[in-house]
Amino acid sequence: MRRYLRMLVLCLGCGFCSLLYSLNQFAVNLEEEASGDGGKLKAAATSWLTVSKRIAGKGARSVGPKESPGGPDRYNKDVSLSYWNPYWMLPSDVCGMNCFWEATFRYRLMKTQSSDTMHLAVVACGERLEETITMIKSAIIFSIQPLQFHIFAEDQLHHSFKNILDGWKFLQTFNYIIYPITFPTENAAEWKKLFKPCASQRLFLPLILKEVDSLLYVDTDILFLRPVDDIWSLLKKFNSTQIAAMAPEHEEPRIGWYNRFARHPYYGKTGINSGVMLMNMTRMRRKYFKNDMTTARLQWGEILMPLLKKYKLNITWGDQDLLNIMFFHNPESLFVFPCQWNYRPDHCIYGSNCREAEEEGIFILHGNRGVYHDDKQPVFRAVYEALRNCSFEDDKVHSLLHPLELELQKTVHTYCGRIHKIFMKQLTKSIRDNYVRSSKERNNSGEAFC
Ligand SMILES: *[C@@H]1O[C@H](CO)[C@@H](O)[C@H](O)[C@H]1NC(C)=O
Ligand SMILES: *[C@@H]1O[C@H](CO)[C@@H](O)[C@H](O)[C@H]1NC(C)=O
Ligand SMILES: *[C@@H]1O[C@H](CO)[C@@H](O)[C@H](O)[C@H]1NC(C)=O
Ligand SMILES: *[C@@H]1O[C@H](CO)[C@@H](O)[C@H](O)[C@H]1NC(C)=O
Ligand SMILES: *[C@@H]1O[C@H](CO)[C@@H](O)[C@H](O)[C@H]1NC(C)=O
Repeated sequence: MRRYLRMLVLCLGCGFCSLLYSLNQFAVNLEEEASGDGGKLKAAATSWLTVSKRIAGKGARSVGPKESPGGPDRYNKDVSLSYWNPYWMLPSDVCGMNCFWEATFRYRLMKTQSSDTMHLAVVACGERLEETITMIKSAIIFSIQPLQFHIFAEDQLHHSFKNILDGWKFLQTFNYIIYPITFPTENAAEWKKLFKPCASQRLFLPLILKEVDSLLYVDTDILFLRPVDDIWSLLKKFNSTQIAAMAPEHEEPRIGWYNRFARHPYYGKTGINSGVMLMNMTRMRRKYFKNDMTTARLQWGEILMPLLKKYKLNITWGDQDLLNIMFFHNPESLFVFPCQWNYRPDHCIYGSNCREAEEEGIFILHGNRGVYHDDKQPVFRAVYEALRNCSFEDDKVHSLLHPLELELQKTVHTYCGRIHKIFMKQLTKSIRDNYVRSSKERNNSGEAFC
């Protein structure tokens, strides 16, 4: 009898424990649902609709907390890429009985994946296919950690992107997702008109890529001359208030644009250039921005349209001007990196004025104003064509460096051509590093690229 009683107590104990466990699981599920994809996507869709209403309705949001409660741990879950990367999405009926274990395993896998994956976004419209592909190629050639590209493109370009990038899948160092151009529905026409078609898409990236913690946005006319890893590592140098990093628009105020012509506020002495923009989007989504429209601070999703409405008639360079206005009011949030991370013709056409590039070479080249495609700045064009012409299988020293060096000799009649060595300096080093890395890999795996 006593034995039965003992058994009964044991059973009750077990039952109680499993009840606790399932309650716990239930709570976790609820929590995940609340913060999961479904909820977030719906929230994303509705937040655009509610933005203007909330602002019109007396702008009553008080000054918000800097960091939302819940802490970074909870937020880590949002880093996972399960929604955006179809390869990590297993149908729920596949795992069956083992769902619990598999989910745990998958979660870990995603966590490690997403912690060293570098996210890079670009917006391609019109005739920008070749340029964008060359940018992507330059990112892939030198980078070390895996890359995830988020390509926002007009519908007619999707097929071409897919064809070319699928041809590079054998490299196994990158993944890509192609998205259509999307705007908040109510003001789509207004946003599309702003600046070049589609350029303002980039302002919405923190709202569209809700699952992504950090992102490097680049214009299509960017060329990486060193690993993306190196600019990515600047994220770790942000202090607690910084949310994004950009380079100054000018080094030399005498030829600066904003300080001479702008009819709106701008960041710092000469403004900032948004062609290379590194973002901690987790922080951008959480921050409440000071502004000159209401006394209340506004979140990213709430501030864009009022800003556009207020400054519509005064802005010249579209979304870059809006970013300048935003960081004028919130200067503590910007990390300014030196000009060699966003090197433009302005840095050499009237004489060299980017001191850091003179010392260490150019890290990221930005051929704005179409200089890759005309004859105004032959140095920029030569670097572009050299990268466009090379393929992953080529030996970079013979197929890229040597022909480029010869081309650059022909440009010394221009101001930029006189300092053509700074265009080669980092590129040469990157190719050498790459060669050492891949020969190590060859020793290990019997295969190498570049
Ligand atoms: C971005 O900021 C969040 C919140 O401060 C932080 O948890 C995360 O680690 C940051 N991301 C990177 C890549 O530094
Ligand atoms: C736009 O520019 C005009 C002329 O410089 C100036 O008077 C006006 O205050 C500007 N508007 C805003 C919103 O800054
Ligand atoms: C972070 O750096 C920016 C720019 O240097 C500065 O304005 C800001 O005060 C710094 N924030 C903290 C918390 O130190
Ligand atoms: C790239 O290829 C084009 C033709 O396909 C050629 O005219 C040009 O000289 C090449 N440029 C470089 C730098 O190799
Ligand atoms: C690769 O292996 C060879 C010998 O098999 C060795 O001489 C060479 O130094 C190794 N290269 C690297 C980069 O480790």
